[in-house]
Amino acid sequence: MTAEPLERSLDRPDQLTRPDARPDDDRPLVLRTAHEGDLPELRRLDEEVFREFAYPGFLLRQLFDMYEEHFLVLDDGTGRLRGYVLAATRALGADSWILGLCVTQDRRRHGLGRELMTEVLSRLRRDGIGVVRLTVEPANLAAIFLYRSLGFRPEEPDGGLRPDYFGPGMHRQIMRLDLPGSL
Ligand SMILES: CC(C)(COP(=O)(O)OP(=O)(O)OC[C@H]1O[C@@H](n2cnc3c(N)ncnc32)[C@H](O)[C@@H]1OP(=O)(O)O)[C@@H](O)C(=O)NCCC(=O)NCCS
Repeated sequence: MTAEPLERSLDRPDQLTRPDARPDDDRPLVLRTAHEGDLPELRRLDEEVFREFAYPGFLLRQLFDMYEEHFLVLDDGTGRLRGYVLAATRALGADSWILGLCVTQDRRRHGLGRELMTEVLSRLRRDGIGVVRLTVEPANLAAIFLYRSLGFRPEEPDGGLRPDYFGPGMHRQIMRLDLPGSL
């Protein structure tokens, strides 16, 4: 399977608000590599956050098979996952796409999205990746602010905007980060 930019995003009006929901609990989360036993919970989490745009189970399975080392989760220790990030690298290249990033609603704005991204970028740099790209829905300002703060910039032309990128009306912005110092 070739890595394709499948990044989803949400376009909901609550994106720039602080979460109303109280955390189910405030137990500390462990950031770790995903393992096979996480797949059912990863699917549940993906559906919770991305709803109709969630990855089909078979695709999530094969993304795990391909990119396990760059598939990271936030584990609350009770069997529930509170977030994940997935990066896919080309087999014959030194570039990578972020294909998924999320944190559950009740855990947002506590630096967890940044932690997931920082760790996966560190692993990608360690593994010799020189360029990381992603797509984001142009109205998803929470994600765009996060990516910009990590150094991602729109990939020209047209400020990164790609009309109908995922199909009619599904516009996306492509952002890019160069990883200096990678192998
Ligand atoms: C995008 C997402 C992963 C961010 O996770 P998070 O844990 O809330 O983000 P962090 O707390 O690490 O925030 C890091 C930075 O991102 C920006 N940011 C994140 N959420 C923001 C918001 N609601 N409003 C404004 N800026 C925001 C800020 O710059 C923030 O830094 P600061 O806290 O120092 O101001 C989370 O909102 C999410 O899961 N959204 C739904 C799924 C999604 O859209 N994924 C991205 C698809 S491209």
